[in-house]
Amino acid sequence: MPSNLTRMRPDKFSDDFFVERRLNGFNPGKLNSIKGEEWQYAVKYDCSNHVVEPSGILPKIIEARFTFGGQSLSCHSIKYEMNGECMVNRPEDSEWEWAKRLFRCTEFVFQEVQSHLGRTHMNLDQYAMAYYRNVENNPIRLLLEPHLEGLLNINKLGAGLIKGPTGFIPEASSLDPDEVDKLLIEEVKNLNYHNWSPKVQSLPDRIVNNHFDRAALAMWDVLKQYIGQFFKQHEVGIQAYWSEIEQMSADLTAHSILKLELGTLEIADLAELQHLCTYIVYLSSFFHSWVNNKQYEDGGDISYATIGLWDTHHPAYNPIKVTQRHGKQVVLLWTLSNVHSNPIMDVGSTELKDLLWMYREQIEPGIALDAIMMSTNI
Ligand SMILES: [Fe+2]
Repeated sequence: MPSNLTRMRPDKFSDDFFVERRLNGFNPGKLNSIKGEEWQYAVKYDCSNHVVEPSGILPKIIEARFTFGGQSLSCHSIKYEMNGECMVNRPEDSEWEWAKRLFRCTEFVFQEVQSHLGRTHMNLDQYAMAYYRNVENNPIRLLLEPHLEGLLNINKLGAGLIKGPTGFIPEASSLDPDEVDKLLIEEVKNLNYHNWSPKVQSLPDRIVNNHFDRAALAMWDVLKQYIGQFFKQHEVGIQAYWSEIEQMSADLTAHSILKLELGTLEIADLAELQHLCTYIVYLSSFFHSWVNNKQYEDGGDISYATIGLWDTHHPAYNPIKVTQRHGKQVVLLWTLSNVHSNPIMDVGSTELKDLLWMYREQIEPGIALDAIMMSTNI
């Protein structure tokens, strides 16, 4: 296989690189600000509700903690619970490299199931279904359709390829198909477009190499301007066919799996429709391009990270099966990361391309403009 990012980095196991990938890797936006501890930031993954296959290694809970100082983050420790034991490893400990590997591999499961499949493909699916079933004449189709192109097709194909009994994630990770579905549902039922923007997950402190937040906030700004202009131009038409939006809203409210306590996905007025369009285009283009196209960067090197970790001393351990799973991982991730269909800078509207070009200095350290696609189509 062609070299991926980590194979090209002699420092791939360094602590600095560990920090850099938590900020800018394939699962961004997961650092939380922490008060009253020795560390100021942490990323936590909770698998405690999930059954792990025999010989599979997956901690119940794992948390990587970081200290903040001088506009940068450094590793503080990794805490994890596994086999009834709670461990805390620090950079000076002999088990530190193992703790980082355990973290990277656990993160891989959450990246694929929740950030990639959940937050982009399946989350967008519910909006696309409600849109296609109800909107026929409303001018928002001019705005949305180029950003929904290929979504339902890839989701139908991906349902068998990525999840389900023969899907990549259940085959290559230590979770079975039902557990993968549970993890996916856990994510989607918590996602509500109302009041969401990348601001809710951005870090309060300035961190020099936090390229993701800078790019995400710039992209949101670009889309707010672009979609604001569109709504100004087409307001009369959007209002004239408002009954279609009412039907789309009723469809979304009836079929979404959003938790009751988080409200509904209703589209009550023009301002909510405009916000929803910004949310859909942000996820379809920028966010999916980030979490999808960086899969090979973080996941294309078995010595660095695997989506499944196995206990080689367990009687159920099968080295041939594990080698086949590793092969599948790098081949699939290479394919998913390298199919670049409909780049915005190629097929996007002139208004959108001009805005992106104006904001390129904030976006590009995180992701190249030509790596941002119009829609979630792979
Ligand atoms: Fe994808």
